[in-house]
Amino acid sequence: MTEQPLTSKEESPLLDVADLQIELVTARGVVRAVDGVSFTVRRGETVTLIGESGSGKSTTAMGVQRLLPEGLAVLSGSVRIAGRDVLADPAAARAVRGRTVSLIPQDPMTALSPVHTIGRQLGDAIRLRHPSLSRTQARDKGIDLLAQVRISRPETRWKAYSHQFSGGMLQRILIAVALAGEPELLVADEPTSALDATVQASVLDLLMELQERTAIGMLMITHDLGVARLVSDRIHVMKDGRFVESGPADRIVDTPADPYTRALLAAVPRLGAWDETQGAAS
Ligand SMILES: Nc1ncnc2c1ncn2[C@@H]1O[C@H](COP(=O)(O)OP(=O)(O)O)[C@@H](O)[C@H]1O
Ligand SMILES: [Mg+2]
Repeated sequence: MTEQPLTSKEESPLLDVADLQIELVTARGVVRAVDGVSFTVRRGETVTLIGESGSGKSTTAMGVQRLLPEGLAVLSGSVRIAGRDVLADPAAARAVRGRTVSLIPQDPMTALSPVHTIGRQLGDAIRLRHPSLSRTQARDKGIDLLAQVRISRPETRWKAYSHQFSGGMLQRILIAVALAGEPELLVADEPTSALDATVQASVLDLLMELQERTAIGMLMITHDLGVARLVSDRIHVMKDGRFVESGPADRIVDTPADPYTRALLAAVPRLGAWDETQGAAS
């Protein structure tokens, strides 16, 4: 394949979504889960969709990768990933999935197979991207990836099974699996919501460190404004399949314009306020 000129790659967003609508065919009829959203993610950026449960975040995240079952989901609008229109062309969607774009799933406890070793699963993901590698070469690459996601003594853990790891370690292993495809864009659907608060912080810290090092683009999904505030460049606040408010993360958090965003903010614990009250009382 010929290399794209660097400038055109830098200029066009990794992900460019325009007027995306997604209708789901359900037992109770057709639901318009996503109702005309537009957004972009550029290299090195984290863009977050936030909203309460049922607002359409996962449908958007799965839809842009065309991971929703054909026939049960009807998509319209346009979705370009690294310049290729994946809605117009199913072959383009297959070509970019697991390569240009990778998914970090929500529940680390069930995303890996319990019957194969971590090494087998990570090795397979690496060989999918680099079919010419031998098992030994894939293992060397995999051990390096495990070290990158801060799994200590990765050589000895290559042969371990998922039940031998904690939730936080499994989520870091799943990040390694996602990175095996050498993606330019990561889609992370509530990647830390199944984890304890301290473990959650370490996984988010890892994602941000990875991004600083590799300039990977990230589409983050969360219902937690604390998480969104920490990781995002831009935030889109989603309700009933639409964006009610969009903007730079600081602006959304400091001066939310929409009542729905204010309600989300009110639900976030404010450590600073507690300290001030203590200070005033003493
Ligand atoms: N498999 C499904 N069957 C029926 N309805 C669904 C399904 N998945 C999602 N929906 C509906 O689509 C809407 C958006 O859901 P979802 O994208 O999962 O929201 P979120 O990720 O923000 O919680 C909701 O109204 C939900 O009920
Ligand atoms: Mg969801």
